[in-house]
Amino acid sequence: MGYEEAFFWLGVLSCLALLIRILFYFHKFFKLFVWSRWCKQIDLKSFGKWAVVTGATDGIGKAYAIELAKRGMDIILISRNETKLTNTALEIEKSHGVKTFWIKADFSTRDCYGHIEKNLDDKDIGILVNNVGTLQFVSQEYNEIEKESLWKEIDINCGALAMMTRIVLPKMKQKRKGLIVNMSSISSITTFPTMSLYAATKSFMNMFSVSIEVEVAPYNIRVQNLIPYFIETKLLQEGEEVIQNLKRKAKFMIPDAETYAKSAIYTLNTDYLMTTGYWPHVIMELAANVLSIRMSAKILHNRLQSMFGKKLKKDSNKAKTIS
Ligand SMILES: NC(=O)c1ccc[n+]([C@@H]2O[C@H](COP(=O)([O-])OP(=O)(O)OC[C@H]3O[C@@H](n4cnc5c(N)ncnc54)[C@H](OP(=O)(O)O)[C@@H]3O)[C@@H](O)[C@H]2O)c1
Repeated sequence: MGYEEAFFWLGVLSCLALLIRILFYFHKFFKLFVWSRWCKQIDLKSFGKWAVVTGATDGIGKAYAIELAKRGMDIILISRNETKLTNTALEIEKSHGVKTFWIKADFSTRDCYGHIEKNLDDKDIGILVNNVGTLQFVSQEYNEIEKESLWKEIDINCGALAMMTRIVLPKMKQKRKGLIVNMSSISSITTFPTMSLYAATKSFMNMFSVSIEVEVAPYNIRVQNLIPYFIETKLLQEGEEVIQNLKRKAKFMIPDAETYAKSAIYTLNTDYLMTTGYWPHVIMELAANVLSIRMSAKILHNRLQSMFGKKLKKDSNKAKTIS
């Protein structure tokens, strides 16, 4: 075979590989966001009576807990604030006629787990949603962030995932069923400079999900790892101006927590491990897969700097005027 013929076949093979990849994406997209709504819905109660949701009093955690309750699950809410816990629990009980139970815990402290474990001991837990998370938003340079805040981010984003999974697994394994949903982020695959630690903690979550899924599959325990792009919640409050700016350009890309949770829960009808959970966010997932990590990091860095640069300039001008 001559060089020309070899290059020709190399080209054909590359096109074929690309075509297969595109078909694979279409198939995945169709199953996750179309088929999952019309197929026979999975009975979430078959995993067990209770669903535990960490960070359940606000944003995505609260919205996801409500979706679970709509499907008949009794809900265990874990967060820091007693008033918010009571109110959310009452709201869920009244609207959906399920039982609730709440545990007050602060995941930034490592001694909260004994108390959680004791309270979960007599419950038939079918689903664990590792949702709690925190973010040092992009308006600060890494070296300016308080050291204490960095530890908190690691303990909340990584520690809670590791420890809560450790707490529920023994009983799930014993009864040979269970479902674990981990709330990661698109930043885990695109990387977000000036949100470096956050992105890294979410990558930790992805790797944990991929590994633990294989480990627990023989016990009939399922794992799903969600990697959404921006969702309008109080987590993004610090970047409110930037989020509103992005929303004006493409509103459909930044849903509220309720819209996101409604979409994400349907994807449980498929057995994909990794999904954005919301179809417009697939655009970001595709972009991340096409670009190299370093390239997407550089593009995002420039973009975020230009967006936040303006905000910071404005803020510092405001501060100067006040002083
Ligand atoms: N919003 C987004 O754009 C986005 C995108 C991708 C991924 N995510 C991920 O989705 C998850 C939920 O985010 P969200 O946007 O819904 O956040 P959120 O609106 O800030 O809600 C966070 C929840 O966690 C609780 N919480 C916070 N710190 C806690 C702590 N130390 N101990 C116990 N509970 C704590 C909060 O309740 P209390 O304050 O009452 O304790 C609240 O219920 C996070 O893991 C986040 O990384 C969010």
